Amino acid sequence: MIDKFTTDRKAKLILDGKTIELPIVEGSEGEKAIDIRRLRAETGYITIDSGYMNTGSCASDITFLDGEKGVLQYRGYAIEDLAANCSFIEVAYLLIHGRLPNRDELRNFSELLGLFALIHEDMVHFFDRFPAGASPMSILSSMVNCLCNFYPEMNENPMGNIDMMAARLLSKVRTIAAFSYKKSLGSPLVYPRHDLSYCANFLNMMFDSPVKPYEINATLVRALNQLLILHGDHEQNCSTATVRMVGSAKVNLYASISAGINALWGPLHGGANQAVMEMLEEIHASGGNYRKYIERAKDPNDPFRLVGFGHRVYKTFDPRSRIIKKACDDVLEAMGINSDPLLELAKEIEEVVLRDDYFVERNLYPNVDFYSGIIYRAMGIPVNMFTVMFALGRLPGWIAHWIEMWNDPNGRISRPRQVYVGPKRRKFVPLGER
Ligand code: ACO
Repeated sequence: MIDKFTTDRKAKLILDGKTIELPIVEGSEGEKAIDIRRLRAETGYITIDSGYMNTGSCASDITFLDGEKGVLQYRGYAIEDLAANCSFIEVAYLLIHGRLPNRDELRNFSELLGLFALIHEDMVHFFDRFPAGASPMSILSSMVNCLCNFYPEMNENPMGNIDMMAARLLSKVRTIAAFSYKKSLGSPLVYPRHDLSYCANFLNMMFDSPVKPYEINATLVRALNQLLILHGDHEQNCSTATVRMVGSAKVNLYASISAGINALWGPLHGGANQAVMEMLEEIHASGGNYRKYIERAKDPNDPFRLVGFGHRVYKTFDPRSRIIKKACDDVLEAMGINSDPLLELAKEIEEVVLRDDYFVERNLYPNVDFYSGIIYRAMGIPVNMFTVMFALGRLPGWIAHWIEMWNDPNGRISRPRQVYVGPKRRKFVPLGER
């Protein structure tokens, strides 16, 4: 796909006295890149870019983000418009198909989600074999990986029916997530209901009980819907890049998504929402002196970081965090929580940090995870499920990227290079002589 965007302009690189011309690529929102694919073949040099700070691994028409201006768009639509007007399922359809569904398409897709919501009963027994206290993220990634054994038709013809494939995954992952929570409590499982929307169904599976029926609250459903939309995609982040990389070896969708779930688990990525709550709880429990923690975060000799601040791409406000902050107030009001000490703490920390030179100079603003945990907590979702919630939201993005990667005519197995800095070739010494 990248070749479609190659311009007539060239960058010139002088190497060992020789001038090499490298094509310049320009994206639809004006992003510029130098195409170095021929560099090694022509010069013997590779480029070094640890952490891929400056490397475009693909061309993609799914998500655009401008970290300097705080812009996020899915398939050309502003995240603010989607979060205000759409259901998560509409946005999932948009990410996967590249266009918003009409009424019939949305009805059909929702119907499929209802039809595929169950997981094979043999899989239900798997939950019994995890030890008490097992991480829901490890359960989720294992169970998603297993899906390829129960639904192998996907492996044979992955692009045969995209709606069916996407609906199956979106629906079953939701069920697995809710079941893993119920199992962790030792509570009876609550099966999905055909009459409920995606988010209402999830909350019901999480919180309904034979002894105390769950009352579905429209504000919570709306907030969950928004949170999932906001997490829907974020171009080449660590987990999405993982899905594409694993998938580039022509691994099935389930295994690729399972790898993405594992990447998301890390506290520097999706695990940050859990880490934020743990940090806020710790500050609160130790008397609320958040300034001490801010000073620690600024100390170059202390590894502590203020979780929920900073982002690889955003160098201004993360547009998602503004929407979440508002949703947070709505949820607390709906739950009748007049003041939440952790929310107050979070607001005070944000206020101080935004005026602190250390954070200002480094462009460290609150990210999407800073407030999302407070909403999840108010909904009754336990902290160890927060990253699972992130995975639920990110799923349509992962699916869209996997499809795009699979269909890219220039697609190749992802295989970075390295500069070797180990010992030079040396003489082998047999075991008895060492
Ligand atoms: N607290 C204190 N200092 C920070 C923080 C923070 N949260 N984040 C970055 N910095 C400092 C670094 O120490 C570094 O300072 P220096 O220039 O004096 O060495 C500078 O800011 C740049 O930081 P990097 O680590 O180089 O930035 P990078 O882009 O590699 O990392 C990351 C981005 C991982 C998100 C980082 O900001 C961080 O660790 N934040 C806390 C964890 C977090 O909230 N993660 C969620 C990210 S959003 C998501 O994945 C959905």
